[in-house]
Amino acid sequence: MTDIVQFLSTRRSVAPVALTGPGPDAGELASLLKIASRVPDHGKLAPWRFIVFQGEGRERAGHIVAQGFQRREPQADEARIATEAKRMTMAPLIIAVVSMAKEGAKVPAWEQELSAGAVCMNMLLAAQGLGYAGSWLTNWFSYDHNVLAQFGLKDGERIAGFIHIGRAQQVPDDRPRPDLAQIVTYF
Ligand SMILES: Cc1cc2nc3c(=O)[nH]c(=O)nc-3n(C[C@H](O)[C@H](O)[C@H](O)COP(=O)(O)O)c2cc1C
Repeated sequence: MTDIVQFLSTRRSVAPVALTGPGPDAGELASLLKIASRVPDHGKLAPWRFIVFQGEGRERAGHIVAQGFQRREPQADEARIATEAKRMTMAPLIIAVVSMAKEGAKVPAWEQELSAGAVCMNMLLAAQGLGYAGSWLTNWFSYDHNVLAQFGLKDGERIAGFIHIGRAQQVPDDRPRPDLAQIVTYF
């Protein structure tokens, strides 16, 4: 088995709570972004972009998330609000992949969105290839217009994923994987 097949056969995510610093340096971050943007893209539209959250920016983002949560759940106690604020600070690096898919472009919006998914997956693989661990999450605030506006998303843009990247002491045991007999047919 080649190294890459072994890598792909055993790859798995690590939850943000288990990710610690130090995160990728500037050179590694540049590599991550470059590899992530090297994906199949029908029509060469590059219908996605990145927002990098690191350092103090994570605290500010966490504050925005906590405020957004309070707007939704005015009765929430301090502990719950603090938990929400931590969602953007657990991993040393979070990269939002923003889908800019447009209806009426020369390829269907669905295909543009699939390309954004490929960006997320490539980023996760690149991070793991560089020796980090990560996970692809959306969280409730991927669908909260107020939070997204404060993160700089424009009308029509959507979050494909927040890719959390950091170091993991250990990778958790694998989770059950789909039974191929249930999902494969031969035509
Ligand atoms: C688009 C997308 C959004 C996701 N959002 C969340 C999320 O908000 N919270 C969560 O616990 N898992 C979420 N997941 C699931 C995790 O990324 C992942 O499937 C799980 O941790 C196991 O990953 P693994 O198969 O890479 O080991 C999401 C997955 C995808 C593809």
